[in-house]
Amino acid sequence: MKLKISKTPHQKTCLLFRNKTAQPALMDFKGDSGETCVRYDGETTLIYCGLGGPSAADGRVVRTAAAKGIQKALDLKRAEVSMDCAGIAASGLWKAALEGILLGAYKFSKYKSEKPTVLAGIELVGESITPAEAQKTVALCENVNAARDLVNENAHVLYPESFAALAREASKKSGLRYAVLTEKDIDKKGLGLLKAVGQGSPYPPRLVIMEYRGNPVSKDLTAIVGKGITFDSGGQNLKPTGSIETMRCDMSGAAAVLGVMKTLRVYKPKLNVVGVCALAHNAIGGKAYFPGDVYTAYNKKTVEINNTDAEGRLVLADAISYCIDVYKPSRVIDLATLTGGIITALGSTVSGLFSTDKGLCDKLFIAGERTGERLWAFPLYEEFTDSMKSDLADLRNSSKKRKGWASSITGAAFIKEFTGGTPWAHLDIAGTAYNEDSADGEIPQFATGIGVRLLVDFLTNP
Ligand code: BES
Ligand code: ZN
Ligand code: ZN
Repeated sequence: MKLKISKTPHQKTCLLFRNKTAQPALMDFKGDSGETCVRYDGETTLIYCGLGGPSAADGRVVRTAAAKGIQKALDLKRAEVSMDCAGIAASGLWKAALEGILLGAYKFSKYKSEKPTVLAGIELVGESITPAEAQKTVALCENVNAARDLVNENAHVLYPESFAALAREASKKSGLRYAVLTEKDIDKKGLGLLKAVGQGSPYPPRLVIMEYRGNPVSKDLTAIVGKGITFDSGGQNLKPTGSIETMRCDMSGAAAVLGVMKTLRVYKPKLNVVGVCALAHNAIGGKAYFPGDVYTAYNKKTVEINNTDAEGRLVLADAISYCIDVYKPSRVIDLATLTGGIITALGSTVSGLFSTDKGLCDKLFIAGERTGERLWAFPLYEEFTDSMKSDLADLRNSSKKRKGWASSITGAAFIKEFTGGTPWAHLDIAGTAYNEDSADGEIPQFATGIGVRLLVDFLTNP
């Protein structure tokens, strides 16, 4: 993708922003948020992107308007487009517009015979646009789109080992420190829960660890940990038809972690981050772990597996306690497509936020508002933890209360038992990671790439 910055538009197709009060009025175009219209002026195609208003648009509105505009341009088979930022004068909003273009232009077409028009070049037209900042935004959005590609890939192509190999390649290219625990290491080091989840599959589990050291003199370190179930069949508690078809999305957390780590090497903030991907394939079969069995975690707690479909919390428990033990991070944030319950609670546009640290929670919330990857916080009271206590072992992996009882919170409460007092936040992205409906602005059909922009914002805006 070519990026150019100019003072006047040069392409034959140009996107323009307009709010509801802009004059002169355009026939059949009200300027509503997300509305687009096409006008031809001789050789030039003008695509107007509505911002609503009349009050000034925010980043969210601008991002979606630009996304809808670029989709219109690509539908018209225009591969090179100018974007005039004059209509969004407020400082910084051009970044949201550029994000809208790059994220809105994404379409997963690998398995379609007929390929859509691909965006080849974008010319940003405006006064206060800095090339270095624009290039960073391009890198960020390319990494969001790469995360989408990973999630959308077939589960027989993307499995723990192949994910680890891709992460190794990316780390080498980006200059990140890379380490991996193979199934032998996972066994030897006692990550018994990650081992259990992966043991039913011909694709063995992996724990991938990537390090970005932007401030080597500082001891401060943020850990980000992603759930990386490359396919979640549910195991012996097999998922039914209607729930199983989208379960290649269950490694969205790990894909986001990889996307964030790659982006850090471009943004170069003065801080330290360790990125962990807990990778396993939750398969059904004779070697898979069985309901009712007890397994021992890395931190030596014993866990009764009363539901093999509650596997995300198991791999995260081991990944988090291992990461805390070895890397001693100042805070841990995990991202996981953890529960169906979060879809009931928040739908598909807001992710669940659970935290043991008020400051961390507030900062993440603000990053969510800024990026449009919004979060909403839930409580973690004692009664939720109590419901995860087992008569047979120390803990059980699904609550002893009736089915569905605060299931997102009890899942989080389970993970909390493996954080050992380190400030921690858990993001449940089960509703926001994958869009089964058609594209809506910057949110494409299928994988959304949620979490990359959110965590890059969180990490780079102190
Ligand atoms: N991967 C699923 C959660 C999920 C559901 C992700 C829908 C994306 C869309 C997770 O492993 C799961 O199955 N969770 C169970 C937990 C229950 C058995 C305690 C759930 O939420 O039903
Ligand atoms: Zn599951
Ligand atoms: Zn899962």
